Amino acid sequence: MVPIEQAKEYPMTLEQARKRFPQLEETVYGKPLVYLDHAATSLRPLEVVRCWEEVSFRKNANLHRAVHYMAQQATAAFEEARATVASFLGAASPREIVFTPGATAAANLLATCLGQSRIEGGHRVAEPYIGAGDCLLVAESEHHSNLVPWQMLCERTGARLVVLPVEEDGSYNLTRLEEALKAAPKLFCIAHISNVLGLINPIAEMAALCHRAGCRVVVDGAQGIVHADVNVCEMGADYYFFSGHKIYAAPGTGVLWARAELLDELPPYMGGGEMIDHVRWEGSTWAEPPYRFEAGTQNLSGVPTLVPALRLLQELRGPEMLANALAVRDYVWEQLLAIQGLRLYGNPSDRSLKVPIFSFSIEGVHHEDLALLLDKMGVAVRSGQMCAEPLMGRIGVTGMVRASFAPFNTLQEAETFIKSLHKAIGMLR
Ligand SMILES: Cc1ncc(COP(=O)(O)O)c(C=O)c1O
Repeated sequence: MVPIEQAKEYPMTLEQARKRFPQLEETVYGKPLVYLDHAATSLRPLEVVRCWEEVSFRKNANLHRAVHYMAQQATAAFEEARATVASFLGAASPREIVFTPGATAAANLLATCLGQSRIEGGHRVAEPYIGAGDCLLVAESEHHSNLVPWQMLCERTGARLVVLPVEEDGSYNLTRLEEALKAAPKLFCIAHISNVLGLINPIAEMAALCHRAGCRVVVDGAQGIVHADVNVCEMGADYYFFSGHKIYAAPGTGVLWARAELLDELPPYMGGGEMIDHVRWEGSTWAEPPYRFEAGTQNLSGVPTLVPALRLLQELRGPEMLANALAVRDYVWEQLLAIQGLRLYGNPSDRSLKVPIFSFSIEGVHHEDLALLLDKMGVAVRSGQMCAEPLMGRIGVTGMVRASFAPFNTLQEAETFIKSLHKAIGMLR
């Protein structure tokens, strides 16, 4: 795994980056908007909106079906996105890329299909991968999207779910993982980066341990793809998924990647057009992956926006952008820790593991009140359970505040955030 410190060299400047996002010019309540909720959804850049417009006006036809010109253009744009995603993830082939409406949809697809008879030679013949009595290991800091689908799978199949506890500083202990693997789980489900704790998890090391124990690894990459370099083969994941809207692409887009042989054995998720080979009254046969999992009309306007979005994501990792991102991260980190009564969740001693997602609570101050006051000062942060209620329970809070930064948030914006935070705390204490 490559931490943000070691990202590749691209030449974009901070000024150029900010020009891509007209929303940065917005004011709220008469104050310049300081948007610090990127972990929930990113801002939309010009090139993504233009791509959406171009596809909607000039390539608006259903995919893979008609022979006419517009349909060919639409299909080419959609398949170009598949090839771009495959190369971005370091996948072996574009056929390992399944488009979904988002990370949640990808997790549900996987959790549903893994509990059904596997496919061999185009037919449902083999036992499900997950069945009664099987064990699933889920990391304690998971977003509900990488937890609830696994609970539902357990309910349907009679499998059981075991939790891998997170450490005080937000990291995972590999010895504890080795211990947990003694229960012979068949799946280990963990985020590449937690949306609450903002730490890069050591997926490669974890996957090596899991594979030695015969356990497959599901990686929720919803935040990982934003902040870390991803190479699904090098990290040893078996399944990796993410949402397009967190990496500047159109909402309603998402990706599930799995190694070819693992996709081949999965039965279809939804039935309908395009996912079949033949349909007869006595029964149907299934298309090969990835089409087997793409029933019905796909998000033909949204998926092509993954191409400019991924290009931008790479450009935002250039030296100037990286230097800015690290300066902002270090400044905010230091300033938050200096606030009396503030508890920061995800505070590792190895600084290179931390991405600019800061979740915290302040003694004697309710998170919602704080977020509301910050909003009135023009600062947009998230507050609440962060879709990670079990983690809130473990920490012993009902909610927290989260400020999540993009590489193009400036030091000046970070200062505004810290100043506003002090002011709000002063008003509430
Ligand atoms: C770590 C993580 N996993 C999954 C999701 C779910 O993503 P979506 O709502 O786009 O499906 C999120 C969204 O916040 C997330 O942060």
